[in-house]
Amino acid sequence: MTTSVRVFDVTRIRNDFPILARTVRDGKPLVYLDSGATSQRPNQVLDAEREFLTTCNAAVHRGAHQLAEEATDAYENARAAIAGFVGVDSDELVFTKNATESLNLVTHVLGDDRFERHLGPGDEIVITELEHHANLVPWQELARSTGATLRWYGVTDDGRIDLDSLELTAAVKVVAFTHQSNVTGAVAPVEELVRRARAVGALVVLDACQSVPHMAVDFHALGVDYAAFSGHKMLGPSGVGVLYGRRELLNAMPPFITGGSMIETVTMERTTYAPPPQRFEAGVPMTSQVVGLGAAVRYLDEIGMDAVAAHEHTLVEAALAALGAIDGVRIIGPTTAEDRGGAVSFVVDGIHAHDLGQILDDEGVAIRVGHHCAWPLHRRFGVAATARASFALYNTVDEVAALAAAVRRAQEFFGEVPA
Ligand SMILES: Cc1ncc(COP(=O)(O)O)c(C=O)c1O
Repeated sequence: MTTSVRVFDVTRIRNDFPILARTVRDGKPLVYLDSGATSQRPNQVLDAEREFLTTCNAAVHRGAHQLAEEATDAYENARAAIAGFVGVDSDELVFTKNATESLNLVTHVLGDDRFERHLGPGDEIVITELEHHANLVPWQELARSTGATLRWYGVTDDGRIDLDSLELTAAVKVVAFTHQSNVTGAVAPVEELVRRARAVGALVVLDACQSVPHMAVDFHALGVDYAAFSGHKMLGPSGVGVLYGRRELLNAMPPFITGGSMIETVTMERTTYAPPPQRFEAGVPMTSQVVGLGAAVRYLDEIGMDAVAAHEHTLVEAALAALGAIDGVRIIGPTTAEDRGGAVSFVVDGIHAHDLGQILDDEGVAIRVGHHCAWPLHRRFGVAATARASFALYNTVDEVAALAAAVRRAQEFFGEVPA
């Protein structure tokens, strides 16, 4: 992980992303404000994947030939770079398909009675009403299969975790929450939630999908037990996710998926398992994707995550001001940029989010509309759908202005300009 701040040159950064130069909808410049769903990839990532595939593609941790050796080195070097980026050790970092799979790995193993921390009837799982379905549905499943009870923190009117809404008791065995909401942008008070979980002896699981791409994050310093994030949201390839697990926990955990590559010895009767992280990487893993993700963290590291965060903070401030100045627009989430990331969700009076998305698309502005895989949160705010602009390091203040102008155009189109 780096905290260095260099001169942040967004024009130079944009030149690294070929897709940002394209036009859409009859020649309109692309204004890509959907990085919360998936981010774009710089040449450095595309080149790293191509270089790997054209020079040393082979199955890793298998094979006695030179290509296999080079591929394994590239894969493990990427693991070391990614581990360093989030402040942990290489053997604490497991590659998965995406953050969803990482979270399922944890919930699955917490339901396995070979694991001393496994859950059972009478135990409680605590999440929040702010969660993405990826950090909600697997916990529901774990509760169903073990007889544990699912409880949750509510959400305040400005879209943050309501810390007064729940008291943790000794029955709580795990507390899972998102570091940065993919809907409201609220950044969770991790320190306080870790303190509360520790006080009752519970494990802490952090959904870091929307934080790792946008700010310096150090899982050891945060003191969480597990954390999950996805490559495709942080300038890396799709098809690769990451699970951080505290070493002692990973060592004590049985596998999630079994088969080749995760074994130590196999007879017809029984199998012993390899140490982590291999124990959790059954089969031939995604390789060029891991190499690409390694290139993505090197790219982010070179720019400096504090510089990325500062730039995105400026964009969020500009977006909150520009959208807040439009009558009929309601922000779902904090209306100031403190402890807030770059997902800005909003509704516009009299215009359905899907219609709004279509008008914005006609203007070249790509946003996401719907419930953003956070249906209970939308219910909490009494809305079926919101429009969400989400920012990344390559966005500009001019693009924020384009967003606001397109929203005003939609109001004109639908005759919804407030008097
Ligand atoms: C907060 C949060 N958690 C989890 C996920 C799931 O990520 P993936 O679909 O890459 O598994 C997302 C994706 O939108 C997210 O925003």
